Amino acid sequence: MTTIRQLAVESLTHLMAGGQERLAVDDDARSILRSWMLQSRRGGQLVETAAPATPEMSVEEKLALLRNRAEHWKPARRLGTLRDTMVFATGNPHARLMLVGEAPGFDEERLGEPFVGRAGQLLNKILTAMGLSREEVYISNVCKFRPDMGPEQGTANRPPTAEEIAACLPLILAEIRAIRPACIVCLGGSSAKALLSSDASVSSMRGRWLDCQGVPVRVTYHPSYLLRNEALSARRSVWEDMLAAMEKLGMPISERQKRYFLPS
Ligand code: URA
Repeated sequence: MTTIRQLAVESLTHLMAGGQERLAVDDDARSILRSWMLQSRRGGQLVETAAPATPEMSVEEKLALLRNRAEHWKPARRLGTLRDTMVFATGNPHARLMLVGEAPGFDEERLGEPFVGRAGQLLNKILTAMGLSREEVYISNVCKFRPDMGPEQGTANRPPTAEEIAACLPLILAEIRAIRPACIVCLGGSSAKALLSSDASVSSMRGRWLDCQGVPVRVTYHPSYLLRNEALSARRSVWEDMLAAMEKLGMPISERQKRYFLPS
């Protein structure tokens, strides 16, 4: 039987997934919420909020807590359409640049780390061209579980549905609040749509600074798009988005870097 408490948690999770962080509550509601919180602290059922961190915690502590929350994240597990292994994030908790992709695939699920397959290798090359390493930036996904395709799935992957992304969204929003990077690059449409609460295409969101929870966001094509489309113009588009991020980060940009992927 669904309890009022479960319904309330689900509806609060849904509001958070839509980007809402504050809610006016009257005194009665506040005292009920407080009693649930106390109950959960005493070992009762966990209330599904991705914002358990307190301001005095270090970024590492906040991320460790979030990783644990993600592992047991009921809104995602309850869907029954995502696979079991949770793939959290990788990189530097104090990174100034955060890169956010879509969802883990076969390779990421096997190794437990985002962007370690072909798309990840291309991302590593892009970072190297920027003068950065994977260890210096923070890399995560909007969906923390590989979308399930049934017993015959093998190495195949599918993009997460809007529902699967909405279920995981509070986690990445909490990661952003914990890290507070100087800027975020959304890799592909799923990430951009989720973080910017938008239905627009990648091409229409590119080329300007947008905002997620007060953090400047640049949208670019997913590395796997570049693996499918080897046109110089596509590589140049992604490179221009990365140059914009480098500029935002105050990184030096050489004349050579400025000219990468321009027709000779
Ligand atoms: N594609 C993504 O969006 N994320 C990964 O972690 C791997 C591939």
